[in-house]
Amino acid sequence: MSIHHNPVLLNESIDYLITSADGIYFDATLGFGGHTAELLNRLTKDARVIATDVDENAFNYSKEKFSTDPRISIYKFNFSMVDVIAKIESIDGYNGILADLGVSSFQLDNKDSGFTYRENTSLDLRMDKSKRITAADLLNNFDAKQIAEILWTYGEEKNSRKIASMIVEKRKTKKFSSTFELNELIAQTTPVKYLTKTLSRVYQALRIYVNDEVSNLKELLINGLKVLKKGGRFVVISYHSLEDRIVKEFFAEHSKKAADKKSDPFGIMNLEPKLKIITKKPVVPSKEEIALNKRARSAKMRVAERI
Ligand SMILES: C[S@@+](CC[C@H](N)C(=O)[O-])C[C@H]1O[C@@H](n2cnc3c(N)ncnc32)[C@H](O)[C@@H]1O
Repeated sequence: MSIHHNPVLLNESIDYLITSADGIYFDATLGFGGHTAELLNRLTKDARVIATDVDENAFNYSKEKFSTDPRISIYKFNFSMVDVIAKIESIDGYNGILADLGVSSFQLDNKDSGFTYRENTSLDLRMDKSKRITAADLLNNFDAKQIAEILWTYGEEKNSRKIASMIVEKRKTKKFSSTFELNELIAQTTPVKYLTKTLSRVYQALRIYVNDEVSNLKELLINGLKVLKKGGRFVVISYHSLEDRIVKEFFAEHSKKAADKKSDPFGIMNLEPKLKIITKKPVVPSKEEIALNKRARSAKMRVAERI
């Protein structure tokens, strides 16, 4: 398998992540192992890395890539199971949790992965192929209101209602099965100069819905907080505003003195802050990194420490 994926914010993320060179770290989004390889390079022989990815290609590739390193255990689990994985591994917590969200360049560019709208391929968009609903199922079965809501909520697509009603009309004659069928329909409502951006928004929305990305991220944060050791860090790289907002709000909510006194006047709800925000503003890639890797341009990294 020929792989090309440049790990985004590589040095910056690993610098923030490591607080103890012989600690235990969780890579929630192993992918092709770019971040994990650098992490392992910088850790001692007593350290451990536990990593997961739901994508079959990424899992198989990385299993092979790291097969000779006894410090790493690799799972093909949803990252929301971060706390369950800690139990399986019989560890009481992690010294750091890294998440480099979204999809890899390999997934985006590989026709067989079903992620690219630039090729005529099946309308799939599932990272985990054992999940039930594909993008085609969604377009062929959901009603216009549901489709419009998905395009608006997860893609901020202004033409969401119009596109949704055209989808419902079109499928009466032929069900959707390929990317080019959807692209053609969107091209009918969109001026050529906006077409690529509209397609990106629509496919992003479908991908987020099909993979349940919002709930998974929220669960990763909630369950991750349960198993992050004191002094350990969350390092999260996101690629669109919706994800970044979830991370920002989660860190803020758990870092302020939540016992707003009004909501917990007797101090019985254990609302003491659990996190300290390390990056007041998100860290973004340098111009040089963006010039080398276009995919990095939308990246934002936030870091918080368990206190
Ligand atoms: C941007 S890539 C990570 C690339 C990786 N950091 C590297 O350097 O190779 C994101 C990866 O996360 C995986 N992924 C996304 N959501 C996931 C989830 N809920 N659970 C586990 N893996 C997930 C994707 O399959 C993809 O391989």
